[in-house]
Parts: sequence; C-alpha cells; structure tokens
Amino acid sequence: MIVCTNREDILRIVEEAKAVSKSIGFVPTMGALHQGHISLVEKSLKQNNITIVSIFINPKQFNQSEDFEKYPRTLNKDIEILKKSGCSIVFVPSYEQVYQDSSSIEVNLDGLDTVLEGKFRKGHFQGVVDVVYRLFKIVSPNRAYFGKKDYQQLLIIKKMIDYFDFNIEIVPCEIIREPDGLALSSRNTRLSSTERDNTKVISEALFEAKKIYRNNQVNIVKNFVQNKIEQNNFLSCEYVEICDPDTLKPCSSKQKALNKILLTAVYCGKVRLIDNILLDSE
Ligand code: PAJ
Repeated sequence: MIVCTNREDILRIVEEAKAVSKSIGFVPTMGALHQGHISLVEKSLKQNNITIVSIFINPKQFNQSEDFEKYPRTLNKDIEILKKSGCSIVFVPSYEQVYQDSSSIEVNLDGLDTVLEGKFRKGHFQGVVDVVYRLFKIVSPNRAYFGKKDYQQLLIIKKMIDYFDFNIEIVPCEIIREPDGLALSSRNTRLSSTERDNTKVISEALFEAKKIYRNNQVNIVKNFVQNKIEQNNFLSCEYVEICDPDTLKPCSSKQKALNKILLTAVYCGKVRLIDNILLDSE
C-alpha cells in the first residue's frame, strides 16, 4: 500500500492508471477509521482496479472549533487497518495540499443544505462540498463511496456531481451498526461507558418507528421517537424530522409516514450523534 502526502503523486498515479484503462474507486474520510469506513473500502475494492482512500480532517466543515480540536486523530492505526483491508493507496494531504487554490466553490444545492444538519451546523455543508470538490479534482475517480449514515451529505454530493456534470458514479453504502444497534461513528469513542450504554436507545427508537409507521401519520411517528429518546436522561434530541428521501423537504404532520425518511441528531453529553432510517415498505 502506498501512502501519499503530495497531490502531485496522486495526479501521476491516476494518470498512469487511466492510461491503461484501470478504474479508480475513491473513499474520502476524516480518519479514526472503523468498520463503517471499511465497508466502503471493501465495496470499492470489489468494483474497481484501484482504491484510493483519503484521510483529511477538514477544518472548514467544523462549525465549532472544539469539535475540530477534539476530533480523534489515529493516523498510524488507520494506516494499519487500511493495509489489512487491501486498499491500494492512502492520500493524507496537508491543509496546503488541499487548499492550494484559495477560491471557494459555489454550488446551488436547491435548499438541501439549509435543513436538518444545515440548520444546526451553519456552513458545514459548504465546507464538505468545498473539500470533496477539491479531492475529486485531484483523484478523478470513476466511482466514489459515501455512507447513508450521513444521508444528507450523500444527497448533497450527488447534487454537486449533477451541478458540475462530473463523470463520477456516487455509490451509496448501508449504515454499519454495533451489535446493539448504535451506528458506528468516529465520535462514539468520545462517549463514557455509561453514555455508550445509553446511546443504544437512539437506534431502538428508530427500529420501533419502522414497526409503527405503516398506519400512522408523520406527527405520531415523530413524537413517538422523540419521547422514547428523551425519556432517557442521558439523551436530548436536537431534531427529529420525517422528510422526503429525495429532497429532504420536511413532511407536514398529517402526511403518511410511508416511504419517507426519519432523521435525527441527538446529544449525549457533549457528543452529537446522527442517525436515520428509511420508512419504506420492506
Ligand atoms: P467521515 O465522517 O470520516 O466519513 C467518511 C465516510 O464514511 C462517509 O461517507 C460516511 O457516511 C461513512 N460512514 C461513517 N460512518 C458510517 C457507518 N456507520 N456506516 C456506513 N458508512 C459510514 O463524512 C466525512 O468523513 C466527511 O464529511 C468527508 C466526506 C470525508 C469530507 O470531509
């Protein structure tokens, strides 16, 4: 496995690979890797000749400097995990390597960035779009892999691809969970063991919503989830919303919950966790 810190090296590797028609799969990450990330890498390995993983903690997408400073940094361990996964190339750029060209990227996201996460984390998605655009320009992948755990991010990246007419296939990947249901996240390592035990209530509430949504309206399902989470003294909801899965427009309370998506952000102490579940007919 090659570890590159220089964008010129990636540009050269990609050019050589494309010259012999090798396909490139790309998995952008901020490190602190867990099985959620690795599931994306494994999918890319199956579908492409070369898999490039980037590890870059992008300061521009953190709206709170404390969250950026406390973000786990485990580069040596990440490299070991990637070696074992069979990944071909890891790109670990410095800030200067990514933001060499200082002009920022403007994209019309059709309101996808102003709801849910966008409402509570101002500037977050502009930061995500800015960095992913720059990484795409360096890596020029055929396919790029994003987790449904960050469902809004996934839709925004798809929108960006359409907007710039990039020839990149965005591959959505299922949410990987702990045995008790908690969605894997780099932020989980910041939970105390008591907090960690209590966070299982979040996914429990979502799975129960999946059982009751069929005959219920949006407000009933939303209230059920919010109450179930907030009955736990360790947890408080920032939002619980049921939205259209394509536009993320919030549904009105009397609409049927069928074929909508339920998304939530929950604080456990100072740690902010997100999760979602599709209320489809499966
Ligand atoms: P990061 O949080 O490191 O996540 C990298 C990718 O892993 C994202 O596509 C995310 O959705 C996916 N992922 C995280 N946890 C997952 C889980 N439990 N199951 C499945 N996929 C999961 O998302 C980012 O980094 C950044 O915003 C980035 C796109 C790299 C831009 O900086």
